[in-house]
Amino acid sequence: MSYNLLKGKRGIIFGALDENSIAWKTALKVYEEGGVFTLTNAPIAMRMGKINELAAACKTEVIPADATSEQDLNTLFSKSELVLGGKLDFVLHSIGMSPNIRKGKEYGDLNYDWFLKTIDISALSFHKMMQVAEKLDSMNEWGSIVALSYIAAQRAYPDYTDMSQAKAMLESIARSYGARYARLKKVRVNTISQSPTRTTAGAGISGFDAFFDFADMMSPLGNASAEDCANYIVSLFSDFTRMVTMQNLMHDGGFSSTGITQSLIDRLSK
Ligand SMILES: NC(=O)c1ccc[n+]([C@@H]2O[C@H](COP(=O)([O-])OP(=O)(O)OC[C@H]3O[C@@H](n4cnc5c(N)ncnc54)[C@H](O)[C@@H]3O)[C@@H](O)[C@H]2O)c1
Repeated sequence: MSYNLLKGKRGIIFGALDENSIAWKTALKVYEEGGVFTLTNAPIAMRMGKINELAAACKTEVIPADATSEQDLNTLFSKSELVLGGKLDFVLHSIGMSPNIRKGKEYGDLNYDWFLKTIDISALSFHKMMQVAEKLDSMNEWGSIVALSYIAAQRAYPDYTDMSQAKAMLESIARSYGARYARLKKVRVNTISQSPTRTTAGAGISGFDAFFDFADMMSPLGNASAEDCANYIVSLFSDFTRMVTMQNLMHDGGFSSTGITQSLIDRLSK
């Protein structure tokens, strides 16, 4: 059911690779709620992915951009304003990639050039897009910018390696830029710390099934799905959350506040 929560709002959605992507589900929800937006992804991902199918379903355009390139980001924000007919009200950063994880490197054997690439793609790109948006004055007052994080920013997970540091930096950038953008233009900036979710990025982490199942058992409501996450993002883009900024918002079925669940006690006591 649609409530037209985003009627009249314009934005950019980064990171829809295929129908499992959190950004893909979010694009469909934002469209359903009346928002208009451009879609973007790295040129290489667009060749492999199916983003044009999504663009057709949402009656929109795809503008390729490597999120680590300031030049690409400049083109993306300027073109989006032209295509959409005005300044922007929302931006979704749904981007993550670690070459070290892709190549199966252990935490004690990281390649540092790749580590820097992980940080650049998964964290610094968030700062870059906001700096570009600020310089171009692309955002409307009371706009909302959201990035996706994971609880490995606060806790140790064996196979999440350098992505843990990238997520810690991502959350820190949300606080620092959130303070700045609030003062300059009343734009809010938040991260959502999402449950493990079966997507290309998620399933790339070794041991993913084990920590997906563990998190599910340790969350009183169970793991939050990508659809639930899309709904939460819509609420953060809407006018109902205008005073929420500089937060890392837990979207995890209660996982982060749980010591142990009854179902886990029952299971372990058998
Ligand atoms: N899947 C999970 O378990 C989970 C849990 C918590 C947070 N997250 C976060 O959610 C976000 C979205 O991931 P997802 O799970 O939907 O997986 P996904 O693989 O569908 O999305 C990741 C996206 O990042 C894009 N990307 C990579 N390098 C890029 C670059 N240089 N420029 C632009 N885009 C680039 C990819 O093309 C892809 O579209 C990521 O930040 C991820 O870390 C995922």
